[in-house]
Amino acid sequence: MPALYNLARTGLLPPRFALIGVDHNDRSTDEWRGKIKEFLEEQVGKSGEGALKTIDDRYWSPIADAMSFLKGDFTDDGAFVALKQRLADCDKAKNLGGNVLFYLATADRFFATIAQKLGEAGLVDTKECNGFRRLIVEKPFGQDLESAKALNTCLLKYLREDQIYRIDHFLGKETVQNILALRFANGLFEPIWNRDRIDHVQITVAESIGVGTRGKFYEATGALRDMVPNHLFQLVAMTAMEPPVSFEAEDIRAKKAEIFKAVHPLTLADAVRGQYDAGTIEEQKVSAYRAEPNVSADSTVETFVALRLMIDNWRWAGVPFYLRTGKRLKTRSTEIAIRFKRAPHALFRDTPMDELDADWLIARIQPDESIRLRFNAKRPGPAMALESVAMDFKYKDYFKQAPSVGYETLIYDCLIGDATLFQRADQVEAAWAVVDPILKGWAGSSPRHFPNYAAGSEGPAAANDLLARDGRSWRAIR
Ligand code: BG6
Repeated sequence: MPALYNLARTGLLPPRFALIGVDHNDRSTDEWRGKIKEFLEEQVGKSGEGALKTIDDRYWSPIADAMSFLKGDFTDDGAFVALKQRLADCDKAKNLGGNVLFYLATADRFFATIAQKLGEAGLVDTKECNGFRRLIVEKPFGQDLESAKALNTCLLKYLREDQIYRIDHFLGKETVQNILALRFANGLFEPIWNRDRIDHVQITVAESIGVGTRGKFYEATGALRDMVPNHLFQLVAMTAMEPPVSFEAEDIRAKKAEIFKAVHPLTLADAVRGQYDAGTIEEQKVSAYRAEPNVSADSTVETFVALRLMIDNWRWAGVPFYLRTGKRLKTRSTEIAIRFKRAPHALFRDTPMDELDADWLIARIQPDESIRLRFNAKRPGPAMALESVAMDFKYKDYFKQAPSVGYETLIYDCLIGDATLFQRADQVEAAWAVVDPILKGWAGSSPRHFPNYAAGSEGPAAANDLLARDGRSWRAIR
């Protein structure tokens, strides 16, 4: 809803539309509107510069007028008959050309049922309907390879692939989309974007928040499922994909899917899991994962994961991709850091080369979106002394930030039918196939030393060992 509001504000919502909320609760359209307005008002002024500033009636009113509530149970055929009627009424009243987006803002256990019922009610068959019929689903898209395949099979029984929009909200982040611009709109980087020049890649998605009120969900999910085959792999795909032949959705999606097919099969030695203990974050004492609401006192669910991926293709053979993500880490920080190979030593043999850092290119996704190039420069003075320095591009120095919650582009793209930022069935399955051996391996053996990192730290010691084995180390989380 905040994204719809922002789309209205920027003139990107179509002038005629209807918004139908379907749920099993007893409530009137007025009550639903009231709740949504309340929610929007709570969002005003929240979370940084991108947040809503005010709720302006000029933009809110057309949305409020377009809203209507329909009580219905997702498992009940009658609900879909009623929905069909409501859609027809709205279409007739507003002349909507038959176009419908079904946004499954529901628990994932309903995805298959809703797709089936929509299909059986003739609501997604474009031969029967005039306009487009599209379905939006958001993660969790399955719990593992098998369930993701089953869900795809079910959706594809009733809809064509081009009608399905699988959202990964990381792709709504401007800085994630900008990786493609950085790589493919510049002549500078792509020629050095390979195993000849790159030593390794580190991708970090660190969060300082804990599981909060989501204990029940998290106990059934864990950090690996929650973050890796989706969000972290989107960052891997953007960094590692081959140049597409065009910016057409299918060309980009094909290149991204290829990456996961090329990942060398993981073994348990490539993965580390952790769970947070009590600790201190920004001077606040916070409790251990096991003490969070709806979490078992002897839970073995991971809240941290680190992986070492090798991509078996000509560009990346021999270049490790180290990934880590966790809750209750030192600070919130998402970045992709590319470490280049060191310069040959000969020229600077009398300087303390070993103390110098290698060159890095760091795409900072959030917060403080930026791109930083770290390289060595001569320190002024008579001696040849080198020092690591940085060139920084900060988004906020160049671009005015429009209020955005990250879903504006995604919803707009669904409206105009651009699938570039959405996941195709084969990509989802290939991503699950990569993590499947780890999910299975971990399910079969309880972690012995949980909790193994303090809240406010940089994660478990074993994550350092993962890189130390290769003679490398993590960048500090900051
Ligand atoms: C969600 C996960 O998909 O992404 C959460 O379920 C996580 O556990 C969130 O906190 C992170 O997204 P963002 O946009 O806040 O970085």
